[in-house]
Amino acid sequence: MRLADKLVIVTAAASGMGRAGVDLFLREGARVAAIDINAEALAALADDAKAKGHTIATIQADLSQPEQMRSSINDAAAALGGLDVLWAHAGIPGPAGIEDLDLAAYDQAIALNVTSAALGAGEAIKHMRKRGGGAIVFTSSISGLMGSMFSPIYSTAKFAVVGLTKSLAQTFAPDNVRVNVVCPGLADTPMKIGFTGRSGDPQEAEANQARLLASVPMGRLCRPEEAAHAVLWLASDDASFVTGVALPVDGGFTAR
Ligand SMILES: NC(=O)c1ccc[n+]([C@@H]2O[C@H](COP(=O)([O-])OP(=O)(O)OC[C@H]3O[C@@H](n4cnc5c(N)ncnc54)[C@H](O)[C@@H]3O)[C@@H](O)[C@H]2O)c1
Repeated sequence: MRLADKLVIVTAAASGMGRAGVDLFLREGARVAAIDINAEALAALADDAKAKGHTIATIQADLSQPEQMRSSINDAAAALGGLDVLWAHAGIPGPAGIEDLDLAAYDQAIALNVTSAALGAGEAIKHMRKRGGGAIVFTSSISGLMGSMFSPIYSTAKFAVVGLTKSLAQTFAPDNVRVNVVCPGLADTPMKIGFTGRSGDPQEAEANQARLLASVPMGRLCRPEEAAHAVLWLASDDASFVTGVALPVDGGFTAR
């Protein structure tokens, strides 16, 4: 098992790729604390884990709020008895355009995609040092590697997460803490519609998805568990000399 007895926090854990990660990390021997804003979905996640013979800690928090971000990481580490791995996965698509920019939506996108990642890493490092090291994995996107034509604020935020990764990988290397980031392509989760269906028109969403997939050499969406497997590898000792890497999980989209 790749994460045997590792103490792991996952944020935005109650759906999509985060939820797939919780499932996978439990199967790989980890003890997991799951943080999310959705209390009902967290309870369902805990019930599902229990049915499979696992106990997880759950913490409800709005991670766009800096104090809740900080305290939820510390509460989760306390519940686990320490911290080896943080997957700071929280993020949102944010506002579509740049003209007449909705500043509240802009602030929320930066808060959840970028500020929460920085604050999470800042708290996690203190716990990881006590255990002699650890691994932090962030979630960026293909839009953090190539400018998105449709989501300038999302690209701004996700490029920032890649920058944070490369900076912290150097800062934390002496602490034996590796820092990497996964960059999924359009993924088959509830968030997908936030990218393809901003107008609210289902036909337009379908057309946008088809247009995007036409540029994906493998011609399909990212499955949640495919992103989770990439995180598992980066978090595990199999990647013991890998730090500062932005890993596309995109069926070849960014290979063009
Ligand atoms: N879905 C995609 O196409 C895609 C592609 C690339 C990257 N990403 C990134 O992956 C991450 C999540 O995507 P997903 O597809 O797994 O999403 P998802 O919609 O399946 O799940 C998102 C989770 O985040 C939680 N959440 C939302 N706002 C929150 C907040 N303020 N505080 C705490 N939790 C909150 C939700 O309750 C939900 O459980 C984001 O960082 C996103 O930018 C998504």
